[in-house]
Amino acid sequence: MSGEDSSPTVGPWAREKLDALGAYLDFYTKVLKNQGHWVRSTTFVDAFAGAGRARLRRRSDEASADSLLAELDPPPIDAEAEQYIHGSPRVALSIANPFTRYVFIERDPGRVAELEQLRQECGERFRIEVRPGQCDEELDSLLQGDLGRSGHLAVVFLDPFGMQLSWAVIERLAATKRIEVMINFTLGMAIQRVLPRSAELRPGWRETLDRFFGSLDWYGQVYEEKADLLGTKTEKRRDAGQRLLEWYRGRLRAAFGHVSPARLIKNTKGGHLYYLIWAGPHPKGLDGARYILTKGEKLGRTSAS
Ligand SMILES: C[S@@+](CC[C@H](N)C(=O)[O-])C[C@H]1O[C@@H](n2cnc3c(N)ncnc32)[C@H](O)[C@@H]1O
Repeated sequence: MSGEDSSPTVGPWAREKLDALGAYLDFYTKVLKNQGHWVRSTTFVDAFAGAGRARLRRRSDEASADSLLAELDPPPIDAEAEQYIHGSPRVALSIANPFTRYVFIERDPGRVAELEQLRQECGERFRIEVRPGQCDEELDSLLQGDLGRSGHLAVVFLDPFGMQLSWAVIERLAATKRIEVMINFTLGMAIQRVLPRSAELRPGWRETLDRFFGSLDWYGQVYEEKADLLGTKTEKRRDAGQRLLEWYRGRLRAAFGHVSPARLIKNTKGGHLYYLIWAGPHPKGLDGARYILTKGEKLGRTSAS
């Protein structure tokens, strides 16, 4: 670990996301091994890699985080009670049949330093590349190299905090017909928060959403014109979240060929945070992703408040 702790603080629900990711990566690499088909290389790309580990938020942090005072003056961290969990890079390195290559993309310099340290710790056993920078640019650069060539397979984990991802890059990944994605669709924790009932979006958000969704049609999924005695006004649809989710899944299916049901991740108070969605070119991948992402849930049932 580097001197200053750059690890993000996460709630216990992050485990659900990381367990699903680990289970899918295990499934993917096991299937490839058992099929015995020749492939030139397999790459795991963590396009929003974080620090390689995360500080688990304790219940007391959660309770105090609700008060304004706590926000102004955060509670001191009790180092002994600190609990860390493996972040997605370490989860991916822990699977039974490792990928040929691991690429970790991260824009935060402190987290990049932690990833570099991880690379040095594991350098003998794994081929790891740490790429400091912006996800979109680094993914494009990877596509211009090995990932864009036949025989190279990859799983790309897209796990932003918000909408720092453009649809154009997802389409370019899909166009290879050899790359799969696991996406954190940040509906509750980010997207819904910038979509007011009044349809008066803050400056810049409309452009961000256009880039994120790769189409202007998201607007019609969220807002509708309503007429009353005074004329017409634009209002947010009651089922805007559910509509956006299904429309986005439809776009993923059209781009990749197959898309999984969306797994809702909630916080400890039942608040909706985000959905995990898999998309890829092979029905076998869909079988695995569907099984993993619907474990404990009724198939096909998604709610998107
Ligand atoms: C949700 S966290 C990732 C957590 C990690 N995948 C895990 O599960 O352990 C998102 C990370 O993406 C980084 N990030 C945000 N925007 C980015 C961008 N445009 N390009 C690359 N990294 C970015 C943030 O610094 C943060 O570390």
